[in-house]
Amino acid sequence: MNIQSIIRKTCDGFKPYVAGKSIDEIKREYNLKKVIKLASNENSLGASKKALKVLRDSFDKVFFYPDSSSFGLKRSLSERYRLSSRNIFTAAGGDEIIELIAKLFFSPEDDIVISKYSFIRYAMAVQLMGSKSVVIPMSENFKYDLQALAKGCSKNTKAVFVTNPNNPTGTYNTKKEFSAFLKDLPLNKFGVKPIVILDEAYFEYASLEKNYPDGLDYLKDNLNLIVFRTFSKIYGLAGLRVAYGFASEKIVDYIERTRPPFNVNFLAQVAASAAITDKDHVARTQKLVVKEKQYLYKEFEKIGVKYVKSATNFILFKPFSLTGKNVFAKLLKEGVIVRAMDEYELPEWVRVTVGLHKENKLFIKEIKKILKC
Ligand SMILES: Cc1ncc(COP(=O)(O)O)c(C=O)c1O
Repeated sequence: MNIQSIIRKTCDGFKPYVAGKSIDEIKREYNLKKVIKLASNENSLGASKKALKVLRDSFDKVFFYPDSSSFGLKRSLSERYRLSSRNIFTAAGGDEIIELIAKLFFSPEDDIVISKYSFIRYAMAVQLMGSKSVVIPMSENFKYDLQALAKGCSKNTKAVFVTNPNNPTGTYNTKKEFSAFLKDLPLNKFGVKPIVILDEAYFEYASLEKNYPDGLDYLKDNLNLIVFRTFSKIYGLAGLRVAYGFASEKIVDYIERTRPPFNVNFLAQVAASAAITDKDHVARTQKLVVKEKQYLYKEFEKIGVKYVKSATNFILFKPFSLTGKNVFAKLLKEGVIVRAMDEYELPEWVRVTVGLHKENKLFIKEIKKILKC
């Protein structure tokens, strides 16, 4: 049977997402006892303690289906952000949110504007729906060029993706830049502004930066705006797959109708409801990351490694004498997992997640060995 002949055209030739390598995988492959993972921007302090406690108390209820409406989690989010539950939706990770939005809005005749060197899942969602990606270059120093993004929108543009702060560059756009961008967006052939999909996966880190805009402040005046965040990063719940978004009641209503009925599992719902109240965990993580970024910047400067200043818990750096892939492979052998940036078309660069101090020290020690510093 020729399966290829019946596959939807947009799925044929689809390249799978390359996920960060896991610790177990590398232990097995290289016969190593100790491996550290600084590859997927997880929280190196681990999960919120409040979340872990409710998880332990909840295991025996997993034989029930989860609450399809994520009622309790939405209520917790509503209290935390002082927004109506009718403006909130939940999903199995930011990855699912990107797909839910794509399924809802993207048609084959639509253009979707995205930025170069941005999160790779956007282009994949566009491809899956058979729409066209219009890729806009970044401004210097790997920053989103929001002015160019607005200019890049045409009558055909259905939506624009904005990541603030951006992965993999770690850079962010200011309130002034974001406000101007929303204003500058032209009307499309439907007589409306394109949908702005604002990905704030690293919001809690970037909120410490000067003039960083909180996407929620723009919701009321911009009915074309969808903002989403995740429990995978600062809350340390990546393995549970849970994220949340904010939009107008009408958009949320459509997302609710088109999502899978039990997309957020029971354990994810209870853990996330507890994690969102764990201010202490967020503060401790922010403090660690701020301090450790300074350590890494200084060490990079000492050995002459170029890096991009980051508003997140990861840093993009350029090992001067070797390709990113080469450094990635050499670090793997030493039990340090980072991320090569080939799939982002940045073959000379590497992304490292900010770890605990002892992990960062080990990473620097190995980098120095590899680069012969
Ligand atoms: C910018 C950005 N958006 C979305 C995601 C998806 O996160 P998750 O699906 O774990 O919520 C990530 C994960 O790395 C990310 O970096």
